[in-house]
Amino acid sequence: MTPEEFRAAAHTLVDWIADYRAKVYRGELPVLSPNRPGELRAALPGAPPEAPEPFDAVMRDLDAIILPGCTHWQSPGFFGYFPSNSALAAVLGDLASTGLAQLGLNWQSSPALTELEEVTTDWLRQMLGLPEAFRGVIQGTASEATLVALICARERATAYAAARGGLQSASKPLVIYVSAHAHSSVDKAALLAGFGRDQLRLVATDEAFAMRADALEATIREDLARGAQPCAVVATTGTTGTTAIDPIDAIGQVAQAHGLWLHVDGAMGGSAMILPECRPLWAGIERADSLVVNPHKWLGVSMDCSVYFVRDPQHLVRVMSTNPSYLQTGADGAAVNYRDWGIPLGRRMRALKLWFLIREQGVAGLQARLRRDLTHARWFASRVDAAEHWVRLAPVPLQTVCVRHEPPGLVGEALDAHTLDWVGRINASGKAYLTPSQLDGRWMVRVSFGVEMTEREHVEALWRLMQQIAEGRAA
Ligand SMILES: Cc1ncc(COP(=O)(O)O)c(C=O)c1O
Repeated sequence: MTPEEFRAAAHTLVDWIADYRAKVYRGELPVLSPNRPGELRAALPGAPPEAPEPFDAVMRDLDAIILPGCTHWQSPGFFGYFPSNSALAAVLGDLASTGLAQLGLNWQSSPALTELEEVTTDWLRQMLGLPEAFRGVIQGTASEATLVALICARERATAYAAARGGLQSASKPLVIYVSAHAHSSVDKAALLAGFGRDQLRLVATDEAFAMRADALEATIREDLARGAQPCAVVATTGTTGTTAIDPIDAIGQVAQAHGLWLHVDGAMGGSAMILPECRPLWAGIERADSLVVNPHKWLGVSMDCSVYFVRDPQHLVRVMSTNPSYLQTGADGAAVNYRDWGIPLGRRMRALKLWFLIREQGVAGLQARLRRDLTHARWFASRVDAAEHWVRLAPVPLQTVCVRHEPPGLVGEALDAHTLDWVGRINASGKAYLTPSQLDGRWMVRVSFGVEMTEREHVEALWRLMQQIAEGRAA
């Protein structure tokens, strides 16, 4: 494809994306893909085309085959999982990034890539009200960031012995502490970092599903008494199930007293900290050794853009630095080499999409949108609280409301069946999408607000739909 052919094709594609977004925003596409498993695979040839195909043919299949297999995360009727906004300014940043096709192996291989990442992550640090000591790096996902954090914690706890001698060098089992409501990526990271699931302690939570600092202290003491070595605690600001808020200050004090690495998972909830009024929720964040915030969730940067902040990047460099002769340049020592700050060697210019978004929206624009979403959640929670036979199951510190419709006489498995039935019917309607999830062993429904296009009218329509379907009311 020549640049001129690209120009023509790209205009077609940009028009297609703009039309697609307009249709999604108007609610013209079913939120949940109606596809059945295997349907898309069956519609595509099993083997690649031998001869070149015209771009038009690809565009036709994009419409006819790919689009029906998409669940529309940008739909104003999407209330599932968490908002994964992909603001159009960020889409343009992504396009610019791919068009520039930069590859960061060291500073010299793309000075702009490195320095834009330093600047934008520092902008984000300021937006979140984090102390200047924190330095940021973009990782693919929060799962990777938490893995990196636990590897650093492991090394610090063993005076970098594990980096030299591997796991064999540990004289005592190293232990990680999380709440039972932490994201599954923490279990996975503990496993991948070599701790083993047996060395992951689930610390008791309170009635708001937040980790109890006194229970953390007690669990650490038990481990010390049995000869294990407490290594790290992962606290969450906005758990996946209920957006519970672990008390960072109290947890940080315990961590400091015992020399534990404190990593804060703010993958989802961290974005709220661009609002000064939300920052008391993570009071004590300055005690953290590292934290992760995903701008690719609520904030609006297209997947993937997970920002990992670390108080002392030397922990990353000491553990992950590689320095083969072919990567060495005269700028080493004078510039950051992000390959030493995470798992991959090569990196693309992901900072562009964060930069485009922040510039296009301004901090005030992003703050206004998040405030709107918090208001939606509070309004919705007030409706649930006021309605007969509807129960709100958790506090609403952020943008997620956990609910159950509990008709008189329905308990246990029958109640579970009712919950899964009504939420399944809402999802099948194509009008809205919600995620059922278990809390204390029973099914409930998470209603997650924060899609960029969701306005009050959509929230009201959802509440009407939920009442109609769960209560069996006429439309
Ligand atoms: C609290 C929390 N942590 C971590 C993750 C995982 O994020 P990622 O997909 O970026 O690994 C999620 C995603 O749902 C989350 O809600």
